[in-house]
Amino acid sequence: MKKTLLTLTALLTLAGTAQARTWDEIKKSGTIKIATEGAFPPFNVLNGKTLGGFEVDLANALAKQMGLKVSWVTAPFDGLLIGLQQNRYDFVIASHGITPERAKAVDFSSPHYCTGGTVVSKVGGPKTAADLKGKKVAVQVGTTYLENVQKLPGVKAVVFPKDTDAQTALMMGRADAWVGDKFTGIDLVKAQKGKLQQGDMLYAERIAMAVKKGNSSLLKELNAELAKAQSNGNYARISNAYFGQDIRCK
Ligand code: ARG
Repeated sequence: MKKTLLTLTALLTLAGTAQARTWDEIKKSGTIKIATEGAFPPFNVLNGKTLGGFEVDLANALAKQMGLKVSWVTAPFDGLLIGLQQNRYDFVIASHGITPERAKAVDFSSPHYCTGGTVVSKVGGPKTAADLKGKKVAVQVGTTYLENVQKLPGVKAVVFPKDTDAQTALMMGRADAWVGDKFTGIDLVKAQKGKLQQGDMLYAERIAMAVKKGNSSLLKELNAELAKAQSNGNYARISNAYFGQDIRCK
């Protein structure tokens, strides 16, 4: 009998911690916990102890509109949605494209920007999906870049834990191309002054914040604050600072 009771208690405790914080609970606590990778310039970057980038500035602006302090958490990209499942933070903003696969595991907000995966190579290298046949393509693990490159027949994906490592592999000649974000590609080509070229966009994607599946109160609040930021000038100001343009989905 005692054993049964203990088991029940354990189960209830587990059920209790398995609940994500609702918007009311977050608001009452005064602090919202947000996770990102911190290695995906210009969207989320950890420089020493300073976290910056478009998504970090945007999320800080949303939290400010909410009247909350932010507690930032950084984790490797491929562990971010798992941490959400484990209630380690309230939401994730790390350039996740909305995919049917991911939407089974988490709930996505309205998109906070629209972009796509593009090919970057050394001048004279592959530029199109067809050009990539028989080539080595560097991509970050757990991304839509990997997913889409794997769909191309005869392409060898070379996978790296960080997107910046995949870029380095291209520069070092360990890959024939890098497939990554359109805006990251623009910056990369610019920084490498004449050495690189940006080819085709292989696919388009809508990027959104993720909350734990079923956390509808927080999702509603995030969507309301994003819409507000997109109408009060906060979004346009931050986007222009990083991209010289407004990258919201049209
Ligand atoms: N947009 C791509 C995806 O949805 C890449 C995201 C990578 N994000 C990052 N923080 N490294 O998979």
